[in-house]
Amino acid sequence: MKFAVIGATRGVGLEFVLSSLSSSHDVNLLARNPANLPEAVTKNPRASVIKGDVMDAETVENVVKGTDAVFVALGAHRSPDYDRQICSKGTSVVLEAMKKLGVSKIVCVSSLGASESWDTIPYLMRPIMSFFLSTSLLDKSLQESLIRSSSLPYVILRPPFLTDSPAKGKYKVGFGIGGWGVSRKDLAGFGMKLLEDETVWGQWVGKAPTVAD
Ligand SMILES: NC(=O)c1ccc[n+]([C@@H]2O[C@H](COP(=O)([O-])OP(=O)(O)OC[C@H]3O[C@@H](n4cnc5c(N)ncnc54)[C@H](OP(=O)(O)O)[C@@H]3O)[C@@H](O)[C@H]2O)c1
Repeated sequence: MKFAVIGATRGVGLEFVLSSLSSSHDVNLLARNPANLPEAVTKNPRASVIKGDVMDAETVENVVKGTDAVFVALGAHRSPDYDRQICSKGTSVVLEAMKKLGVSKIVCVSSLGASESWDTIPYLMRPIMSFFLSTSLLDKSLQESLIRSSSLPYVILRPPFLTDSPAKGKYKVGFGIGGWGVSRKDLAGFGMKLLEDETVWGQWVGKAPTVAD
């Protein structure tokens, strides 16, 4: 298969790229700074690195063109001048490119606490999450609603805290399942499973499950 990955240079997105390449898939990936990518990506002939910003529609079309599915792991950095709405604004550009080019499957990494999943956050955690994450969760909620209303087949993944722990290969997927964290490698692994296995896709399409240890 061939995947387009947006938010591919770090974190879950990079894990998804590495996992795709090691499973012999082809990947088109967007990178603002390709020099920051590891050689395992830049030297792999199955990886096509496209330099640019997610807000550039033409660049995003080049990433999405000819792929079977799109994996979005955009995230807002903590630096003060970062665009706090990059997840929703960037995803809107991606969805337009997908519609234009007839690429229909999207898996998007959101966050536990976005949209109605806020109601599953334990009461004691809510003030802390509100204080630190309210802007990000608003952006994620808007990102989710754009995907839902796009009429494209989607799966939204809502992890709790992300860790850089090794993959365990064992995690829970569902609603109201509890759990405080999940490894980025495991989350990327579940994204891969969704796109490789039609049965798993059929089970979760149109849904926004939590993935947690
Ligand atoms: N951290 C947590 O505990 C946690 C918990 C729940 C959910 N999440 C969500 O999970 C997702 C993945 O998080 P992560 O920590 O693994 O990854 P991350 O470090 O947030 O990586 C974000 C990615 O988005 C890219 N990006 C940002 N703005 C861009 C732009 N304008 N154009 C192109 N690319 C852009 C970054 O590229 P550059 O390298 O160019 O900046 C990077 O590849 C995020 O949406 C995050 O909010 C995180």
